[in-house]
Amino acid sequence: MNAVEDSFVLSARVRRIKPSPSMVARDRARRLQAEGRDIIDLTAGEPDFDTPRHISEAVAAALAAGETRYTPVNGTITLRKAIVDKLARAYGVRYEPDQIAVGCGAKQVIYNALAATIGEGDEIIIPAPYWVSYPDMVLACDGTPVVVPCSEATDFKLTANALEKAVTSKTRWVILNSPCNPTGAFYSEDEMRALIEVLLRNPHIALMTDDIYDQIRFDGGASVCPTAIEPRLVGRTLLVNGVSKTYAMTGFRIGYGAGPHALIAAINTVQSQSTSCVSSLSQAAAVAALNGDQSFVAEALTAYRERRDRAVELLNKIPGLSCRAPDGAFYVYPSCAGLIGRRTPDGKTLANDFDVVMYFLDAAGVATVDGAAYGLSPYLRLSIATSLANIDEACTRLAKSCAALS
Ligand SMILES: Cc1ncc(COP(=O)(O)O)c(C=O)c1O
Repeated sequence: MNAVEDSFVLSARVRRIKPSPSMVARDRARRLQAEGRDIIDLTAGEPDFDTPRHISEAVAAALAAGETRYTPVNGTITLRKAIVDKLARAYGVRYEPDQIAVGCGAKQVIYNALAATIGEGDEIIIPAPYWVSYPDMVLACDGTPVVVPCSEATDFKLTANALEKAVTSKTRWVILNSPCNPTGAFYSEDEMRALIEVLLRNPHIALMTDDIYDQIRFDGGASVCPTAIEPRLVGRTLLVNGVSKTYAMTGFRIGYGAGPHALIAAINTVQSQSTSCVSSLSQAAAVAALNGDQSFVAEALTAYRERRDRAVELLNKIPGLSCRAPDGAFYVYPSCAGLIGRRTPDGKTLANDFDVVMYFLDAAGVATVDGAAYGLSPYLRLSIATSLANIDEACTRLAKSCAALS
């Protein structure tokens, strides 16, 4: 850095936000690995499987066919039709292709939706534990995150009562993520209906559902979609989804939103002045993912289920940790309340979950993320998008380092 770079004036917007904590934790683990440390990295927010071959081959085919130019801002019509079909298949809801926005990951769709709709003074209700990016995206778009803590007693889920209490005349959106990153909690149809009742009584509030893990569910139950349950919500609901997690396509950067025409048009306006459109080749790959052979989805789910069962069983054997079995996604979120206040062999007291994360990194060589990053402490997020052997070894090491505490 030179003096000019050091004195660069940053916007109020960027000074309000921080880098994604899960990415910071991942980078920390990778740095230690690069230094030669033996680190089992359980911070990953992405599948450890290869992208199915028929999807990768669609990229080569698109390239050979010369699909190398700008596409429409809102995505190719082929992709938007594939998304329409996916939503009909999964939820029984019927959207039109121009009610679909395609962005650079679900992340960009959520950001664009907030950028297109909120401003100073607007309140966005975010149940905690939450995906790390929601509050900072709201802040970046000048809004106010209203975080509602959802304890383990309600399986980390927002209740109708808690929602009702958080609503004010300034509330603009409620963001629901089901299955949830980090807890894996899934809203049943009854639980969703109860929340919908509150929304029907408050017509000024829009609903955003982040369904990025909708196909990673362990109970085999039916999908739950608010606009299928209550068609009166169609005009104020944005369904967000993508291909990153379901098809091991995080690097392709394809996400989408389905919603009312005016909202989708506004999202597209933001996109047209930022990224123009998503990579044409990634869009071709997403078509292959959504329309092609789905056997990968079931195979991955079987693997995640086995890993979840193993991780929950082993973590619950470690005194000081207690772990609820997640309903979906590929994370476990054990409480580390039993470790807080304990002393490490070098005399440090573990004051909070971040201290526990750093102790596990140093003493056990296991990288995790602290619950504080997700808005509810004292917990840890461990990704199970890794091999059973890694899960076994990580739990053995965690047990040993817990036993060393006094
Ligand atoms: C809950 C949740 N929503 C959205 C995203 C973003 O996914 P994408 O890769 O589609 O941007 C993630 C990724 O970690 C996530 O966990």
